[in-house]
Amino acid sequence: MEFKELLEKRFSSRTYTSRRVSEEAIEEILLAIESAPSAGNLQSYRVVIVRDVELRQKLAEASRNQLWMVKAPIHLVFFADIDQYQSKFAEHLIEVTPLQDATIAMAYAQLAAANLGLGTCWVASHAWDTAQEILELEGNLILAGILAVGYTNENQGKRKRRGPEHWAIEISIVEEEDEEDESVSDNGEMDV
Ligand SMILES: Cc1cc2nc3c(=O)[nH]c(=O)nc-3n(C[C@H](O)[C@H](O)[C@H](O)COP(=O)(O)O)c2cc1C
Repeated sequence: MEFKELLEKRFSSRTYTSRRVSEEAIEEILLAIESAPSAGNLQSYRVVIVRDVELRQKLAEASRNQLWMVKAPIHLVFFADIDQYQSKFAEHLIEVTPLQDATIAMAYAQLAAANLGLGTCWVASHAWDTAQEILELEGNLILAGILAVGYTNENQGKRKRRGPEHWAIEISIVEEEDEEDESVSDNGEMDV
């Protein structure tokens, strides 16, 4: 699918069929996540693939009782992994950056799923204080969100948006001549 077409086709679906989502489809989604940028290339997130219906029920209840979620045969649960981030950046903004990594990963997963013809809906981290316990996970994790994934019969397409005239701010700048920046190494990382 062309990227533009993908952007037009993706929408949040809150109804799902019982059709199984294959392991191959999940693999593709995980590969897309892997290609996402992350701070220090640390991939400071964990993604939990939940098929179990009882766990889906618990996650839905913990997400302010959004019971439509249970019908989605897969929940991908995204956590920021604080320990992974701190393995390199102990002194940095420890919560914000891993949450950004996890959020970007989730956006990549959502587009990859749409590209496979799957419906998705992003569910906010309402279950921030319970998701880790429900999934019995160890570690220093913060819930970034839950992605409901499955096949849908809905054909909503792109919803109406507030256009860029409402949120894009253009600042006039005087263009400078391109100069080789010696503080950036060949692999694109800052020399610090
Ligand atoms: C951070 C975030 C949290 C969201 N939380 C929920 C949610 O808890 N429940 C829900 O039904 N939709 C949720 N959504 C989906 C939005 O409602 C949806 O993306 C928005 O209305 C635009 O519609 P579209 O995704 O079809 O383009 C969330 C989306 C984002 C990005």
